[in-house]
Amino acid sequence: MEEFHRDGVLRALGVSNFEPRHIDDILACAGVKPAVNQVERHAYLAQTELREYCARHEILLEAYGSAGAKGLLEDPVVRAIAAAHGRTAAQVSLKYSVQRGIVVLAKSVTEKRIAQNAKLFDFELSEEDLAKLEALDCGQRSYWDNSNAP
Ligand SMILES: NC(=O)c1ccc[n+]([C@@H]2O[C@H](COP(=O)([O-])OP(=O)(O)OC[C@H]3O[C@@H](n4cnc5c(N)ncnc54)[C@H](OP(=O)(O)O)[C@@H]3O)[C@@H](O)[C@H]2O)c1
Repeated sequence: MEEFHRDGVLRALGVSNFEPRHIDDILACAGVKPAVNQVERHAYLAQTELREYCARHEILLEAYGSAGAKGLLEDPVVRAIAAAHGRTAAQVSLKYSVQRGIVVLAKSVTEKRIAQNAKLFDFELSEEDLAKLEALDCGQRSYWDNSNAP
């Protein structure tokens, strides 16, 4: 991958589901620092430690699972914030990460949802909304648990 980067075939390299210790290992030997780390992140899994680690190392955090995390779109707190803004729970969930400087990656096969998920830049969540979403963090993973990966 580094050869492709050096030759200009790739503009940036990224990793996925890396914990701080995995990035430490890479930084100890890599010639090219990863530009991005794609992980599960949403209101139920705030990834605070990883977020701070990535910020310190200037690695962008990219979030998946904002719409797909179990129970999140039915959460009464998320739904109440959505209703107050006249938005959907998915939009609130995605916007939460966007406003915290995290790139969000959403997937949908439904045209209406794809359009909805892109329409995030004509409303703002308040600090109070963001604090309520932050308080939902319970470390719940809906995808795989890589925290014990060697
Ligand atoms: N690196 C990794 O290990 C990893 C792991 C998981 C995912 N990913 C990537 O991350 C991206 C997103 O992944 P994901 O599919 O797991 O998570 P997601 O985008 O958070 O959730 C997708 C699910 O949420 C539904 N959805 C999407 N928008 C919605 C909306 N506005 N309202 C209601 N439901 C909505 C989708 O349904 P419909 O499609 O039926 O509309 C689908 O069931 C993908 O590109 C995936 O490849 C990477």
